[in-house]
Amino acid sequence: MPEETAQNATQVLDAMAGGIARAAQLLAAGKLVSFPTETVYGLGADARNGTAVAAIYAAKGRPSFNPLIAHVASVEAAKRHVQWNDWAEVLARAFWPGPLTLVLPLAPDHGISELVTAGLDTLALRVPAHPSAQKLLTELDGPVAAPSANPSGRISPTTADHVMAGLSGRIAAVVDDGACGVGLESTIVGLAGAAPVLLRPGGLASEEIEAILGQPLASRDIHDPLTAPGQLLSHYAPQERVRLNATSPCAGECYLGFGPHSGARACDLSLSDSGDLAEAAANLFGHLHRLDAMGLPIAVAPIPEIGLGAAINDRLRRAAAPRDTPSAS
Ligand code: TXA
Ligand code: MG
Repeated sequence: MPEETAQNATQVLDAMAGGIARAAQLLAAGKLVSFPTETVYGLGADARNGTAVAAIYAAKGRPSFNPLIAHVASVEAAKRHVQWNDWAEVLARAFWPGPLTLVLPLAPDHGISELVTAGLDTLALRVPAHPSAQKLLTELDGPVAAPSANPSGRISPTTADHVMAGLSGRIAAVVDDGACGVGLESTIVGLAGAAPVLLRPGGLASEEIEAILGQPLASRDIHDPLTAPGQLLSHYAPQERVRLNATSPCAGECYLGFGPHSGARACDLSLSDSGDLAEAAANLFGHLHRLDAMGLPIAVAPIPEIGLGAAINDRLRRAAAPRDTPSAS
């Protein structure tokens, strides 16, 4: 039935040709729209609309209601939903808009659906820097809940094509605005307790955050579901096995290299020939998508555990984790 087909088809909206206004209309009407941020493509729904937020979980096949990040256009918009504090002021001034998410206590009249916070009394907030995300949030003039726009447990999307490959037919639209510049999800810092806590390493190096705070970030307690909700091990998983810290591939493996001479076969890709961690971060998910499509086990070169390397290694460890653990976002 042609009408049904039209309803289920996912529209690809051109960010440059009126696509953002259309995307804002769809979000306001309770639909799901994927949009680019500088980290990864998000799967957005109006964070005030519980029915729309519930549809995110259905579209991703996410097994449980893990809390989501609410995206807003500005610091002023963020302050409508949470109890702001001095750490938040310092970090927002230094890093927003950008690849940093702050977790803060909810304000009394926060207006956010309980499905976004999963019943917690805190909210994760982010002001993305990507111009299309900024335009969309300004046009909607409201908070947008958005996990990464991939089926649950799969590799995060850094292009509109990745989004379509995973979610076509399950969401109303995707705003296409090219590849994401940072390529790793945001760094999440908890500011609701006695000291700032690193809840997830990500696209902003924790060393940069510590330099601005003038103190080290505390580590999250992995046994505390409140400081680490939804951070389950198996995640970002390609179809085939992933082997880490491989200085060279074994027979039958493709290779994800780092640094000079990372391999010359058609099934070898380099995260960065020059050993640049920012370039490696931007390439990580795209290269994993390409190697995944080859249908071979993946061997991955050692990556230094400094700066953005901490977040790259975090994602790689999850990609290599046993698959019988339940997967998340
Ligand atoms: O870069 C990003 O952060 C991307 C883009 C789309 O913004 N989003 C993203 O969302 O990575 P998601 O759902 O894949 O990851 C959100 C993480 C989860 O691990 C969740 O547990 C944590 O944020 N989170 C959300 N609300 C929280 C809260 N109130 N307290 C602690 N952690 C929270
Ligand atoms: Mg995710």
